[in-house]
Amino acid sequence: SLYQKKSKLIGLLLPDIANPFFPLIAKGVEDGVNQRGYSLLLGNVEDDLEKEKDYLKIFLQNNIAGVISAVQGDAKEIKKMPFVTLDRVESDRDLAVHSDDYTGGMLAAEVIADRDPKEIVIMVGPKDVPSSAMRLAGNEKVLKERHLDYQLFQTQSYKFELAEQTAHQFFETFPQADSVIASNDVYAIALMKEATKRGQRIPEEFQIIGYDDMPFSRMMYPGLSTIAQPAYEMGYKGAELLCDILEKGFVENGRIQLPVTLKIRESVRKKD
Ligand code: RIB
Repeated sequence: SLYQKKSKLIGLLLPDIANPFFPLIAKGVEDGVNQRGYSLLLGNVEDDLEKEKDYLKIFLQNNIAGVISAVQGDAKEIKKMPFVTLDRVESDRDLAVHSDDYTGGMLAAEVIADRDPKEIVIMVGPKDVPSSAMRLAGNEKVLKERHLDYQLFQTQSYKFELAEQTAHQFFETFPQADSVIASNDVYAIALMKEATKRGQRIPEEFQIIGYDDMPFSRMMYPGLSTIAQPAYEMGYKGAELLCDILEKGFVENGRIQLPVTLKIRESVRKKD
């Protein structure tokens, strides 16, 4: 018959497994699908639309039960399968788990606003990543309310490999920056390295807050202050959502927003 039984495989698409944020998501997804008797096929997309399409083709050929994707999702092919989006969630997605980027943006800006900033620069996440605009909106709300001036540095990418080069460009553009709200932890750490190389003391002359709370952010010294996203939980909840859809055909609540938390470490000054 034409009817083909679906496999017990779920495809997971991640933007960049070199960024320690995404293995945490993967761990959550893996535990979540294993719990329900499924296994994972992994596609590391590296912000490459062709790679994304190729993986979706392979997933289809493997008669996959469904897909979980943390990629901003430019490939239309994904609509041929049941799918859940994680983290980088467009507003038109019915099944999605993400965290509260707007609040995260506000919290990050408050930390800087409370610590005697002289020249604030917001490093904005890439334009094609949906969470960037929400975080920026949160940053700007707080800085405007506090009547603090700031400048924007637009990044093109979150790619791990571009972090150091971007940090270099950042200081070429804003050599006077003393207070930075970074787009994520990887890029924040690259900025800390560059600031230190330029002889600036952290946090006295250069203070910075990141985003994500990847494991290395607390393991280094000075530790990186950051906005923690529950990456493992995001993955686990996404897996549950997909498995519910596959098994029951419906879910009560298809869009889940998780809370973020502030982590204060040595990369910022003492509060005024
Ligand atoms: O570090 C990768 C970034 O891309 C994270 O902040 C995550 O939320 C995603 O949008």
